[in-house]
Amino acid sequence: MRAFVTRDLPAPALDRIRNVAEVDVWPEPGPPPAAALRERVRDADGLLCLLTDLVDEALLACAPRLRVVSQMAVGVDNIDLAACARRGIVVGNTPGVLTETTADLAFALLMAAARRLGEAERLLRSGGWGSWSPLFLAGSDIHHATLGIVGMGRIGFEMARRARGFEMRILYTSPRPCPDAERDVHARRVTLNELLQESDFVSLHCPLTPATRGLIGAHELAAMKPTAVLVNAARGAVVDQRALFEALRDRRIAAAGLDVYESEPLPMDDPLLTLGNVVLAPHIGSASVATRIRMAMIAADNLVAGLQGRPLQYAVAMP
Ligand code: DGY
Repeated sequence: MRAFVTRDLPAPALDRIRNVAEVDVWPEPGPPPAAALRERVRDADGLLCLLTDLVDEALLACAPRLRVVSQMAVGVDNIDLAACARRGIVVGNTPGVLTETTADLAFALLMAAARRLGEAERLLRSGGWGSWSPLFLAGSDIHHATLGIVGMGRIGFEMARRARGFEMRILYTSPRPCPDAERDVHARRVTLNELLQESDFVSLHCPLTPATRGLIGAHELAAMKPTAVLVNAARGAVVDQRALFEALRDRRIAAAGLDVYESEPLPMDDPLLTLGNVVLAPHIGSASVATRIRMAMIAADNLVAGLQGRPLQYAVAMP
């Protein structure tokens, strides 16, 4: 059997795959270009990919032997699940292991944006620190503020647990009620509009689906408080990025903390880069060494199971 792995992985993960298959690993630090990916999957029985690799109908058409796609991420919006299902290809992902690490980063973005840490550091480094003065770099309080969580899944729930440590009041929206969050962190389920109007911080934790693409646009940003902070560590396309830029530029909301973008890497001429009131991270939500190793191991195990025709431990529900 043959497997194509689209990026170098920690050695134990690759060894696990090598026990059952001949492994071809993309040697470069960036993702394989579409043509190279098509070429490399031609003889592959299994594909281990990242969220930067587009697995669509065109790619699958070049991979007649493929029986498993194992994604090293929880989000699978880069994979055409319906096309995989039509071909009998199973798809795996890595939920659970990155939940707390991603919530840590989302909370860090919330704090950095609220307390203007990016601006503060840039100012200090550029010699702009004059003296202590009453409203110098004054931001917003986090403790006792209201946090609105859009998408009370695993990561949203962990975000809420962190917020409780700051005695925040928690609102959430979700397609279904989350009794655990209501019991454990006293979260209250409200409509998106209520959440936007009442929250001091709005944090996005929903997957990118046709229903959530562009969920936060000009209309939703206009419903937020002018003092509010938006945090996005989910997927960039959940937010209309142009509308967000305009809302931040015109101070219709106070600040944002972003880890994800409509287009990644964020182009260096993106207008968001001209703003002081946004903290920008390069999609590092799950980037702790321990979590990335765990993700790689699960992705390897899913791949091996698929190659051997066994059920995947973390199989994505197919449409
Ligand atoms: C995921 O797993 O979907 C994350 O975005 C990776 O950090």
